[in-house]
Amino acid sequence: MIACLVLTVSLVSCDSGNIRRTPGHIYAPDMTYSRAYDAYTSNPNFADSMTSRLPVTGAVARGHQLPDHLKEGDTTAYKTFTTSMRFNADELNEGRRLFNIYCGICHGTNLDGQGPLYASGKFASMPANFKDAKYLHMPVGQMFAAAKYGKNMMGSYAAQLDAKQRWMVIAYIKQFQSKNGGDAFTLGEATAKPDSVKAPMMAKLEDKKTK
Ligand code: HEC
Repeated sequence: MIACLVLTVSLVSCDSGNIRRTPGHIYAPDMTYSRAYDAYTSNPNFADSMTSRLPVTGAVARGHQLPDHLKEGDTTAYKTFTTSMRFNADELNEGRRLFNIYCGICHGTNLDGQGPLYASGKFASMPANFKDAKYLHMPVGQMFAAAKYGKNMMGSYAAQLDAKQRWMVIAYIKQFQSKNGGDAFTLGEATAKPDSVKAPMMAKLEDKKTK
């Protein structure tokens, strides 16, 4: 009962009727009042006084690709352009899925240039037949450029596929070609770790064990 009374009195005494003019004590002022500039405060260190800065020109967001520096129409550069990306089975499957959505209508899901749009006679220009000798050894960069900029009657797919998706599609085409008379497939991820990758320390330990 007494405890209850004390509590009520102490709570009531906190209510100063909104006439208090001074704030209470702050025990850690640098936590209450940031020493750093807050995002939307004016900043005397920059001519435009904005604290939130734009990223440096040319900055690439995490998870995004570096720019490819290709110039549209520079067919010589297309031929040597390549990627250091390597694709695992899931990514190659994704490449096939995207190919069937965006490219199959013309190039055919058998990659023979006989997609339904062309086969039905509604599209006048013959799409590339990826089984044909003309395309079997086509450099990957040239394929990438076709997907990015388009080629004659074929439109650009840059708006539908980002750079990594374009490469996945091309890796899928290249893998298919390697099984149909094309060059050995080089865009696949190494499956087994070669022995040379073994950490030197492990190799030494194993050496000792055998002695
Ligand atoms: C609307 C039909 C159509 C679609 C859809 C299409 N293409 Fe094509 N594609 C063509 C035609 C037509 C050509 C032949 C262009 C030429 O050489 O005149 C071609 C050529 C190509 C070439 C050869 C480029 C070269 O330099 O000769 C590649 C590679 C290619 N396409 C990839 C793709 C990929 C990848 C997709 C899907 C993202 C795609 N195409 C979607 C019609 C299409």
